[in-house]
Amino acid sequence: MNILIVYSHPSNISYTFQIRKQLENMFLAKNWHVEVSDLYANNFQSNMTAEEYLREGFANTILPIPNEILEEHRKIENADCIIFLYPVWWSDCPAMMKGWFDRVYSVGYAYGQKAGLPKMKMVPYGAVICTAGHPNEFLSEIGIAQSMETTMLADRLGKRFEKKEMIILGGTLDIEKVKEKHQEQLKELLTKIAAHKGQVTQDRTT
Ligand SMILES: Cc1cc2nc3c(=O)[nH]c(=O)nc-3n(C[C@H](O)[C@H](O)[C@H](O)COP(=O)(O)O)c2cc1C
Repeated sequence: MNILIVYSHPSNISYTFQIRKQLENMFLAKNWHVEVSDLYANNFQSNMTAEEYLREGFANTILPIPNEILEEHRKIENADCIIFLYPVWWSDCPAMMKGWFDRVYSVGYAYGQKAGLPKMKMVPYGAVICTAGHPNEFLSEIGIAQSMETTMLADRLGKRFEKKEMIILGGTLDIEKVKEKHQEQLKELLTKIAAHKGQVTQDRTT
């Protein structure tokens, strides 16, 4: 089982970093392989350049894709499950994560496919995990939980993932109140990924 974690947080003393480590440990304990695209650590360029725009904006797929983007494509193709992990900043993901979608979802690969070009595979499992200062109830009450879910799951993950879900680890401003619940949410996710893996393996052998 190959897990790819696309991770966007600038600091290792953050709660989001603690969640990353917990996820990694959980997966490693199952003997699953974990690869991390640590966007800040890799100094991932979130801004599309004018040169890239000539390709992406006009679907001019003859133009080359930058090497660091091809490397992300390689990681996607190798993954059975992709986890997008980040803190909620102004009701969305940090700019670096948004830039990952802007640039890694290149035309001809993630959409606008053309014969003869490599096409993004159907990823068996996708999970969006975000930490948030506000409690989940408040984010639902003001409609932000729903809008984040629509943007991330319906659009960004879209039809490229067989099974997908979003987990909001909310209420981090009063962390002691929510820590235990967050642990349960992560354990549930692990069970679901393992069950889906079992299902896919069974489907392929029957
Ligand atoms: C720039 C910035 C913007 C934020 N915007 C929101 C927001 O819109 N909604 C929310 O619930 N929390 C927001 N927060 C709180 C973070 O989501 C919360 O601190 C984070 O998820 C957990 O902390 P960590 O940075 O220790 O990982 C924001 C925090 C920062 C630094």
